[in-house]
Amino acid sequence: MKFENKICVVTGGANGIGRCVAEAFLDEGASVAVFDTDGVSGEKLAFKYGERLLFFKGSIAEKPALERFARSVLERFGQVDCLVNNACISKKGLLSGCSYEDFVETLRIGVAAPYYLTLLFKDRFSKGASVVNISSTRQMMSQPDTESYSAAKGGIGALTHALCVSLSGKVRVNAVSPGWIDTGAYQHEDEYAPVYSAADEAQHPAGRVGRPSDIAAMVLYLCGEEAGFIDGQNIVVDGGMTRRMIYHGDDGWTLK
Ligand SMILES: NC(=O)c1ccc[n+]([C@@H]2O[C@H](COP(=O)([O-])OP(=O)(O)OC[C@H]3O[C@@H](n4cnc5c(N)ncnc54)[C@H](O)[C@@H]3O)[C@@H](O)[C@H]2O)c1
Repeated sequence: MKFENKICVVTGGANGIGRCVAEAFLDEGASVAVFDTDGVSGEKLAFKYGERLLFFKGSIAEKPALERFARSVLERFGQVDCLVNNACISKKGLLSGCSYEDFVETLRIGVAAPYYLTLLFKDRFSKGASVVNISSTRQMMSQPDTESYSAAKGGIGALTHALCVSLSGKVRVNAVSPGWIDTGAYQHEDEYAPVYSAADEAQHPAGRVGRPSDIAAMVLYLCGEEAGFIDGQNIVVDGGMTRRMIYHGDDGWTLK
């Protein structure tokens, strides 16, 4: 197994993409530390994986919680091989009047926490360790009213190349920018059924909406030895959506 005896940390690992990433590492033999506000989903994971899963309930927006989390990871496992900064939120933007406090909270979760966790683990990363930051295609394009989230995603993108250079020769640091990923199967799996249309799928050059496993596969690849010469990059995983150029009148699309 590719990650046997490795220690992987995943923020926001109780649901969605983060849970898929955490379970992919566990399936490859790793031990995983998950930091998440959702105690119910986190405890379920801890029950399922036992010794190999450390669940820490709390918010990465809180500095003391980040410090307690880092301490528990290091006390239990001693080192970190992979850090996946995945958790983020959106508080919308200008058009809906996102407040100063909400904007700053988004940046605390989306940018300051990834920075601070990297600092807290700086001297305990193993040889060949990797940090993967989850950004978004929204770091380079926007819908209206998305300033808090877009700024957080731009921030984590820039943080990625800065950390790559500061940690040069010690830790590789890359970002993954997902496009539309349908996380329903990792939220409320019992009653889940996809709700998107055939057009939603066909608009992607790849012909479908993304799955959490598309992102997990890239994260594990970037953390593996085969990716040893990939550093400081932002890898877009979006089914080609950001490569489709659309003008008014194209493919039946009109600007209203
Ligand atoms: N789903 C998509 O289409 C998509 C697209 C582009 C980027 N992303 C990015 O991928 C990452 C995961 O997205 P997702 O759709 O799986 O999200 P999600 O909302 O489904 O899951 C996020 C997880 O983070 C946890 N979380 C939220 N705030 C937290 C906090 N303050 N502290 C600790 N944990 C917290 C939540 O409880 C949840 O378990 C995010 O960074 C998101 O911005 C997602």
